[in-house]
Amino acid sequence: MSKSGYAIWSTVGKKFLLALTGLSLVGFICVHLVGNLLLYVGADAFNTYAHKLMSMGPLLYVAELILAALFLAHMFTAIVTTLNNWKSRPDRYAVNASQGSPSQMTVSSKTMIWTGLVIIGFTVFHLVTFKYGAGVEEGYVAYLDGEPVRDLYRLVQELFQDPFYSGFYVFVMILLGFHLRHGFWSAFQSLGLNHPRYTPMIHTVGIIAAVVLGVGFLVIPIWFYFTGGAA
Ligand code: HEM
Repeated sequence: MSKSGYAIWSTVGKKFLLALTGLSLVGFICVHLVGNLLLYVGADAFNTYAHKLMSMGPLLYVAELILAALFLAHMFTAIVTTLNNWKSRPDRYAVNASQGSPSQMTVSSKTMIWTGLVIIGFTVFHLVTFKYGAGVEEGYVAYLDGEPVRDLYRLVQELFQDPFYSGFYVFVMILLGFHLRHGFWSAFQSLGLNHPRYTPMIHTVGIIAAVVLGVGFLVIPIWFYFTGGAA
């Protein structure tokens, strides 16, 4: 392995990579939530947005490639780090009492690998149903200025009418909130951005981000389920 390869794969390097990929994914999730807010506006607004994204062509492919690389690097580094931690601390199950803030031994911190694995599994399922799911060929067509485009809004609307589908989303979004609650704070620690003065603030911002993102996403299926959507 090259010198830089060793540096990335050292314990510190892995922590850095985990933190950087994690924070980048938080950035994606924020943008995704903002885009999804158009679901409340209505079918035309959301389909126009989705269609514009799809029309970006090569730029979209590059963005998706970067996104996939971030997900994979984050997942792979997290699994390797967790396995190494388990190997070096075989008594891990003995440590169960929450030490509370600011030591950060919380439910969120102890379940990071499990919430992370559920989120990855969810993301694959999510892509299969939404990104690669029913489209124009299956009759999901909307017309924007006379042009036929994929009616992604109808797909979202129909899927969230199913209580199990919506319930599954709500469950995973709660886990996402727990994952972000610890991950956000932990990333700043790993990047060495901790300071007695700012750490409590980063901790609070992490909790706010986790609640805003978790609740922001989980309200969508609940809203569709109970109202049937905006259009
Ligand atoms: C209520 C919650 C959510 C809704 C309604 C939703 C909706 C959608 C839709 C409709 C698409 C397809 C966009 C397109 O094909 O143009 C999509 C793509 C995607 N979503 Fe979600 N999403 C939700 C939550 C999440 C969460 C929590 C994550 C990550 C943990 C996520 C990750 C992704 C990814 C990675 C893509 C593919 C982006 C791309 O390649 O262009 N989504 N989502």
